[in-house]
Amino acid sequence: MAKQSIEPKRNISNRRQGLLSRKQVVDAPRFSRRELAKLGALLTMAFTSLFLSMSAHGSMNASRSMSVGVYQTGSSAKEKIDWSVFLPEGNGKAEVALACTSCHDLTQVITQKKSAGNWRTTLQKMISQYQAPVDKEDMPILIEYLAKNFGDKNPIEQLPMNINTSSAEAISRVPGLTPELAKAVVESREAKGPFASVEDLKRVKGISDTELKKIKSYLKTTE
Ligand code: HEC
Repeated sequence: MAKQSIEPKRNISNRRQGLLSRKQVVDAPRFSRRELAKLGALLTMAFTSLFLSMSAHGSMNASRSMSVGVYQTGSSAKEKIDWSVFLPEGNGKAEVALACTSCHDLTQVITQKKSAGNWRTTLQKMISQYQAPVDKEDMPILIEYLAKNFGDKNPIEQLPMNINTSSAEAISRVPGLTPELAKAVVESREAKGPFASVEDLKRVKGISDTELKKIKSYLKTTE
């Protein structure tokens, strides 16, 4: 009697163990969705930079290429520019800086005027088409941050920012340029004509060499 009641139990536990270990074997080499997304992003990044370096060497048509921080700006050309200085403070800034800079630079993001709905569509495209490493749970934060700062009221039209055509509000987004200085820039432009070069900004009272050195890579004077 006692033997009978023990044996089936052992059988069940044996079977369970068998199932478990088989499952573990199957699970072991698999990546989580998040890891896969990151892997995908890395691969896309590798291919994108390969493509971009080929375009940069003229072997491919780069007319539809993305901005890679290679510009003729106020500072020496072809330098890597940290566009994250144009990301306003707020919940979501860190996520954008992390998730949106691996394939293209942030000028793609900072010059947009998208509604929350359009940002959602864009994010979904970045995730499904290009495997952008965005966590599902971060989506609402990202959408809110992007729609708030890069919605229809976004004054930034293009980057590098053209100091001869941009509004005072846009110019005041340049780090170190206060609303007063930005207003002075526009007034100088209206009174004395366009700035001949980014260096020419020194004609505005309050903008010194030190200031200029920090901001010139974000600026330009011609299209
Ligand atoms: C894995 C690569 C990758 C990552 C990461 C990535 N993108 Fe993109 N993005 C692209 C590519 C490729 C394009 C150009 C092709 C296109 O527009 O579909 C693009 C274009 C864009 C554009 C311009 C086109 C449009 O639909 O408006 C915006 C805006 C944009 N990305 C926003 C973002 C944001 C915001 C993030 C961060 C959440 C991000 N991207 C992260 C690959 C990426």
